[in-house]
Amino acid sequence: MNLKYQKLYFKKLGKKDIKPYDLLLLADPSKKMVDEYLTRSEVFIAEHKKYTLGIIVLCPLTKETLEIKNLAVSPVFQGQGVGSFLINNAIKFANSTQQKSICIGTANSSILQIYLYQKLGFELSGIKKGFFTENYPEPIYENGIQAIDMLVFEKILK
Ligand code: ACO
Repeated sequence: MNLKYQKLYFKKLGKKDIKPYDLLLLADPSKKMVDEYLTRSEVFIAEHKKYTLGIIVLCPLTKETLEIKNLAVSPVFQGQGVGSFLINNAIKFANSTQQKSICIGTANSSILQIYLYQKLGFELSGIKKGFFTENYPEPIYENGIQAIDMLVFEKILK
């Protein structure tokens, strides 16, 4: 299905709603870590005709900053603007809850994500050295590069 001109909905999932783990584990291979941050996060999906196309998980980092802990789009719908739709709606949500900033971390190897976040107005604000080698049991490779450090991108809100 081509999503051009299709109406997408940004929908909040309730605490008791079933979470789409196939999507959550696309962005974060550690179910243990996903389950840990889901307990203290708000979860939103991009929905089209009752079909879940993508997910975004927002967790308070401080009183003034929300962190996007997990962002994933179903592989068949990637590259059609769903990820941008989720991030732009997360920014609106953060603004509506009087946050001062919103941030997202990604691996040094995640080339598409590094491009996308900067395109949407996020700026590099920090590096967590060795995050992926220290927190994940198996080495992770993307684009022929090992995921070693976490790059943190932040967008200051108006
Ligand atoms: N797939 C998708 N987008 C591509 C590709 C590709 N193979 N190649 C290039 N792009 C471009 C798109 O053209 C677009 O750029 P443009 O706006 O200049 O045309 C941009 O990259 C992608 O934009 P969207 O379509 O809005 O993003 P998408 O819906 O594909 O979602 C996401 C991006 C969430 C990263 C998705 O690819 C995905 O789920 N990846 C796997 C999981 C993942 O890595 N999640 C992020 C981990 S970090 C975290 O969770 C905190």
